[in-house]
Amino acid sequence: MLQKKRRIVATSALPYANGDIHIGHLVEYLQTDFWTRFQKMRGHECLYICADDTHGTPIMVRSRNEGITPEELIARSFALHSKDFEDFQIAFDHYGSTNCRENRELSERIFKAMREAGSVTARVQPQLYCEKDSMFLPDRFVKGDCPQCGAQGQYGDSCDICSATYAAEDLKNPVCTLCGSTPITRESEHLYFELEPQRDFLREWIPAHTAPEIANKLLEWFDEPLRGWCISRDAPYFGFEIPDYPGKFFYVWLDAPIGYMASLTCWCEEHGESFDQWWQNPAAELYHFIGKDIVRFHSLFWPAMLKTAGFKTPDRVFVHGFLTVNGEKMSKSKGTFIKARTYLNHLDPQDLRFYYACKLNSGADDMDLNLDDFIGRVNSDLVGKITNLASRGVQMLHKQLDGRCGQMDAEGRALCEKARARADAVAAHYEARDFNRAMIEVRTLADCANQYFDGQSPWLLVKTDPEAARSVMTSILNIFRVLTIYLKPVLPDYADKVARLFNESSYCWSDLHTNIEDAAVNHYTYLAKRVDKEAVDKMIAESRENKQPAQPATPGIESVREVIDFETFSKMDLRVAKVISAEVVEGADKLLRVMLDIGDGRPRQVFAGIKKHYDPAALNGRQVVMVANLAPRKMRFGLSEGMILAAGNPDGGLFVVSPDQGALPGAGVR
Ligand code: MSP
Ligand code: ZN
Repeated sequence: MLQKKRRIVATSALPYANGDIHIGHLVEYLQTDFWTRFQKMRGHECLYICADDTHGTPIMVRSRNEGITPEELIARSFALHSKDFEDFQIAFDHYGSTNCRENRELSERIFKAMREAGSVTARVQPQLYCEKDSMFLPDRFVKGDCPQCGAQGQYGDSCDICSATYAAEDLKNPVCTLCGSTPITRESEHLYFELEPQRDFLREWIPAHTAPEIANKLLEWFDEPLRGWCISRDAPYFGFEIPDYPGKFFYVWLDAPIGYMASLTCWCEEHGESFDQWWQNPAAELYHFIGKDIVRFHSLFWPAMLKTAGFKTPDRVFVHGFLTVNGEKMSKSKGTFIKARTYLNHLDPQDLRFYYACKLNSGADDMDLNLDDFIGRVNSDLVGKITNLASRGVQMLHKQLDGRCGQMDAEGRALCEKARARADAVAAHYEARDFNRAMIEVRTLADCANQYFDGQSPWLLVKTDPEAARSVMTSILNIFRVLTIYLKPVLPDYADKVARLFNESSYCWSDLHTNIEDAAVNHYTYLAKRVDKEAVDKMIAESRENKQPAQPATPGIESVREVIDFETFSKMDLRVAKVISAEVVEGADKLLRVMLDIGDGRPRQVFAGIKKHYDPAALNGRQVVMVANLAPRKMRFGLSEGMILAAGNPDGGLFVVSPDQGALPGAGVR
């Protein structure tokens, strides 16, 4: 059957440049890779387009903390992300960055068109502002008590405990997560993209381009007037400054999806192709693969933006669920927050590709990676049922039958035809993104092949009738070859090795119709091997070690800590001090009262929160380092005149810092 050649652009959501790729992300990048590889194998013109999402406050803050420029930070992430994807055999046609000229130009152009359409309005909006950091605080940079249930330590957008959503200004006792100080409310003018004029368009567009369960959720918003979407952010911000609005930047979620277009533009420029022929062409298809957390951006704001600016809207938004590991949310402390790189350090990428394919369907339900099941599937199905057909077959052919295929026997030929007859079914499953069903087809056929193999017992047959054995081997290898073609979107490197085994070039779908008969077969090379439980355990252990450093003690402050300049640092008067006495404080769980000699004849009293870690007697006579010029603090138990330096381990251990031998009380420490 001759199929019309399709022209398809598929995208995965652009990963944030401020984090590593993890196995949750891979649910998306792998399924898009399976799907686009399938389309290419079928002879269609298909592009897999993606990029790093580089803008926004978190990237700015992180680069500041690391003492590098945002450009340096995103260049580093770009290199790491690209390598992770490459090693997982994810084949983008173009992987770009949102921080590029093409994206700036497109963003400005689309914004201009939105303005000209009268869809952009300016409004003054109160917002939390940190005077110490001199910046407006995004929701994720404020913590406080939930205005509804009072739960402490909640972010500025929603409460984890009671699920209430609110404005950051409504949080009680807000603190800036960067510096721990209390933000003020300050007004600022912002630009809004008005959605209400697009109501009728969106109401029709959403159910026609998303799955019913997704559409129903989105349409709940339509019971009320659609609120405008704030598309500007105040400086300091890492992003594109808005033309005619100095000091205002495009919100990262405005230029991020435009990054799909920018990345496609770059591909077109490199290949002498026209953007319009790929994006604007009504005959070309455009699909976005995304996770369920970012539906609003892709199925509400994005089509509205494109429509307003006169661009073609996507043909479909494919939404998937989230990855759980062993039935739970990925967890750093359990070692199940597994980075792509950590996985690669211990396991074969194609095993995860295969496992995800076995589990993925077109729905948006969460998907579980059960590590025991993972080991079982790879070992029993990929290795035991599928790969063994080739490894046993080829090795026997070489050992006893001079490495040549003959003709298939009648039973084997029928089986091979049966396998081939499933081609349309397998293709339909891939097309529908029901990868799990495609894998079931392959597994079922592999079961039949194994039954035939065992029934024929070629290892015995070879002794009595070697040519009959050759026929059995030939059948087995031809069936295996068909299964390999079915598996190629999922296991591309594997399939290429199989093609080389048979002296063929990389498979496309139509290669299903060839038989390998009366031909030399190359020596078997490694295709897949069993997963060791031990390797999985090591990966989990390494993921545990990857844990973020312990949170600083100040409540509400996250791992991002404030950077201080040298001048601030040098204000600290650090002195070597000798412990004159240390004792438990009546009524305090954590404190020891420590008297210190800093060489000037006036003992200093310090209350140190180290009771859980030190026996007071063990501190007597020891030398420590004291912050001598800290403003004295009146406590319930008396005056504390400074601090003792101690270092915390990520596991909660605490260690008092002491100078080397020879230091004298009062010596200044630098
Ligand atoms: N930068 C935005 C997307 C911009 S697209 C114009 C973003 N980045 S992300 O790095 O947080 O996520 C990238 C994709 O990975 C999203 O589609 C997200 O849903 C998906 N996943 C991130 N964690 C995931 C899991 N644990 N499980 C499955 N998918 C996950 O969002
Ligand atoms: Zn602050």
